[in-house]
Amino acid sequence: MAADHGTDRYRPSPVGELLRERPPMARGLPEFDPDLAPAEPGPLFVDWLVEAIEAGVLDPHVMTLSTVDADGVPDARALVLRDVDAAEGGWVFATEADSPKGRQLALSPMAALSVYWPPQGRQVRIRGSVEAAPPAVSADEFRGRSPGARVAALVGRQSEPLGSLAAYDRAADEAQLLLEADPELVAAGHTVYTLRAQEVEFWQGDPGRRHVRLRYTRTGEGVGRTAWTSTLLWP
Ligand SMILES: Cc1cc2nc3c(=O)[nH]c(=O)nc-3n(C[C@H](O)[C@H](O)[C@H](O)COP(=O)(O)O)c2cc1C
Repeated sequence: MAADHGTDRYRPSPVGELLRERPPMARGLPEFDPDLAPAEPGPLFVDWLVEAIEAGVLDPHVMTLSTVDADGVPDARALVLRDVDAAEGGWVFATEADSPKGRQLALSPMAALSVYWPPQGRQVRIRGSVEAAPPAVSADEFRGRSPGARVAALVGRQSEPLGSLAAYDRAADEAQLLLEADPELVAAGHTVYTLRAQEVEFWQGDPGRRHVRLRYTRTGEGVGRTAWTSTLLWP
């Protein structure tokens, strides 16, 4: 037990002790000078993403998408970032519209995306509204995917209870045959979404805990330098 309510003392469990021995970001990290940051968050995100890729971060384009369900309860899961519209402040991902997250987005089209790149000690948090692409655009994106990814999406039923792994294999075999018969086949419900950022926060960790946080807020509809304002945040 981590919290011992009987004595009001905090006693880490063996796991808690294990974690205590691992202070995060205890290493050399890049400096982030907010005075040199661009006027818009998109280009800065792309710079940090490219630096993560060049530093060899595994899956640097995997982000956490947070949504809320019909009861207002938060939900979150990893997914792959497909693109960034740096000029418009748009972050693009794809999923099945009939999955829990797709249904949550249909009910409440607001979401957050977040990512942490450990070698640089950098976090980015993005909040905003989410819009689905027209079906023809989602279909076009789908046809550009690898056959394996298309088969997996054609199986569908994401997050429904699965009776056995063998049942999945049978469904995947069927989907494979369907795709071979019609290579243009598109999974029903496959949807490309764009999170249009309202707020983007860049967090540069510091081993001495003088973390630097810069939050951009969209102030207007226009594209360009006037569309965003930025402020430092207390760490
Ligand atoms: C590294 C990684 C990448 C993922 N990429 C995607 C993705 O791009 N799209 C997607 O629908 N699910 C992706 N998933 C699976 C989701 O995390 C999640 O399990 C699934 O989408 C069902 O989520 P839901 O029940 O909230 O709808 C990924 C999972 C991991 C761990």
